Amino acid sequence: MTTSNVRPADMERITTAELARKFIDEQIKELRTQIGDKKVLLALSGGVDSSVVAALLIKAVGNQLVSVHVNHGLLRKGEPEQVVRVFRDELHANLVYVDATDRFLDKLAGVADPERKRKIIGAEFIRVFEEEARKLDGISFLAQGTIYPDIIESGPVKSHHNVGGLPEDLQFELVEPIKLLFKDEVRIVGKELGLPDNMVFRQPFPGPGLGVRCTGAITRDRLEALRESDAILREEFAKNGLEGKVWQYFTVVPDYKSTGVKDNKRSWDWPVIIRAVNTRDAMTATIEEIPYELLHHITKRIVTEVPGVNRVLYDLTPKPTGTIEWE
Ligand code: XMP
Repeated sequence: MTTSNVRPADMERITTAELARKFIDEQIKELRTQIGDKKVLLALSGGVDSSVVAALLIKAVGNQLVSVHVNHGLLRKGEPEQVVRVFRDELHANLVYVDATDRFLDKLAGVADPERKRKIIGAEFIRVFEEEARKLDGISFLAQGTIYPDIIESGPVKSHHNVGGLPEDLQFELVEPIKLLFKDEVRIVGKELGLPDNMVFRQPFPGPGLGVRCTGAITRDRLEALRESDAILREEFAKNGLEGKVWQYFTVVPDYKSTGVKDNKRSWDWPVIIRAVNTRDAMTATIEEIPYELLHHITKRIVTEVPGVNRVLYDLTPKPTGTIEWE
């Protein structure tokens, strides 16, 4: 296992399937040497980094890997199901699926402050993971999807799925097979490992998930409107060839209502805000010019298909002055 945290100057950049295969073969050997016949634990969020680490470890040590997928109730539509399908059904992983939706939403009830919401989600995540880890016997290693930018930068993208704050009795030796890779290399390796495209090429998704897009105090009905409108946006972007073209796109449902008319009756419902940005490093961002026709179509689908919504807005603000997320 590579112990250094510095990428050697002569380390070849993984740009092709062939180089990815070479990396995979080397890592499998190194992982087998490091792990032997011991057990490894991994918090599998379903994001590209932890998914690639899981797939590598499954190849290297099979069922000695125990993956824990915590559904905090703030994931996008279909995500937890996809994690179970890909890892348990297709890759036959030893996967523990924990639906902790109620725990998270109960803890978040009435909490409107964005930083407190983030802290609650992060702390609860560690607590749930810790409880699962304690139920397992004989774990020696903790695998993490740390990548090179996590080591060299303290940029704005923070991962709440990096299980850093575990108590002393759960301090396992770390296994970090992709820690010298850049994101584009991780994606090529993921593709070569056979992971589905929508997992490998997916847009960044914050650790606190939909929690920072359901602004103010989260309610279940507004969260549902957020999840459904986000699913419609993603479906339409995919259909219209924007999936690989726009860096990050999502909807926001703020915690206020406005009047409208629906079915000849006055309504008092939420707006849905669409945000679609392009960026290189998330420090600044520009707005994607979405064809008007498509915006009309998405608007129509959202107001007719999503309960509790009567307006759709398009956020035209670059970063600065707006951040990418709304909270
Ligand atoms: P902002 O909103 O600061 O976001 O312009 C920049 C990038 O970081 C992501 N982001 C987060 N990721 N935990 C994360 O893992 C967070 O708390 C968090 N906040 C923002 C955001 O989605 C964007 O890609």
